[in-house]
Amino acid sequence: MHATLLQAAWEARLAPSILNTQPWRWRSGGARLELHANPARQLLHIDPRGRLMILSCGAVLHHARVVLDALGYEPVVERWPDSGRPMLLAHVGAGPERPAGRESVMAYRSLRLRRTDRRPFRAGARVPFDTFAWLRSAAEQEGAHLYVLRGQDMEFLRYAARGAHAVGAHDLRSVAEVRRWTSRDPAAGDGVPPGTVVPEVDRPVPVRDFGLGAAAALDPGDGDDTGAEFLVVATEHDNRWDWLSAGEATSAVWLAATAHGLAVSPMSEMVEVPGARTLIRSLLPVPGQPQLVLRVGVPQSPAPQASPRRPAAGIVAET
Ligand SMILES: Cc1cc2nc3c(=O)[nH]c(=O)nc-3n(C[C@H](O)[C@H](O)[C@H](O)COP(=O)(O)O)c2cc1C
Repeated sequence: MHATLLQAAWEARLAPSILNTQPWRWRSGGARLELHANPARQLLHIDPRGRLMILSCGAVLHHARVVLDALGYEPVVERWPDSGRPMLLAHVGAGPERPAGRESVMAYRSLRLRRTDRRPFRAGARVPFDTFAWLRSAAEQEGAHLYVLRGQDMEFLRYAARGAHAVGAHDLRSVAEVRRWTSRDPAAGDGVPPGTVVPEVDRPVPVRDFGLGAAAALDPGDGDDTGAEFLVVATEHDNRWDWLSAGEATSAVWLAATAHGLAVSPMSEMVEVPGARTLIRSLLPVPGQPQLVLRVGVPQSPAPQASPRRPAAGIVAET
């Protein structure tokens, strides 16, 4: 059992995280794992409340559940088990053995294939309409909501993206934080490498500018992004429970999209900058708290390279 849990923690390292900070720590206590947020990896300026840090930890929690499920064990999760330890996010154990279902095997396969794809999506290719129901249900199962922005929302979305971008570009501490995580020593196994970032190209809604200029080395290809859909992961409230479930939902939606042959790249600038977040909130059909915007579409091939992950020693500590 111990080995199964360690395998789940190890394979869950492939989860997405803000600027690939991988802001989690696993502690193994024998019959169960503890998942902790790692504030040493928090973006103190971009993410002062730790919302995107906890959201990223929600993604790794969902990934660990997917691995356990695919290995044939029911994941047993207790979220926020100790109110006196705010960085202890969950206890994760393996319940009774049972055969892995088709869906868990597919999710496990997607976990290994999933990448952030920042290239413009394929020209003229649309996301099949019936896919939205799958993605929405993936989010709902995790206690969050998923809203597909409509054509009439695009002008506001563009405005929010450009505004967030301008605020970030003029804020020297944000710029420094992004630079820190885009210029990591490869041995660290984290951060956003230039080979996964595309140079700025004309597209309907601009994506995050990592400030790499000519060093951004991923070929944008010939997509035009006109078929991109923009989805908002939202929760009813805006507390740490919501952030964790928004992270689990983001992972679930992303793996479901991958299984349907779609690609995703998150756009968190629009929830980092308060004015932009207010604008996105106003686009939701019912009152709610936007936690992340996801750009989803039909990718160009082949898939972009994988981003690095920390070596095994940094991932699980024995208690
Ligand atoms: C909460 C969160 C916010 C993110 N925000 C952005 C973003 O604004 N722009 C972007 O290009 N990628 C964003 N990402 C994607 C991460 O940069 C990516 O997951 C990380 O670099 C690891 O790469 P991978 O997803 O290909 O494994 C975000 C991911 C998460 C979980």
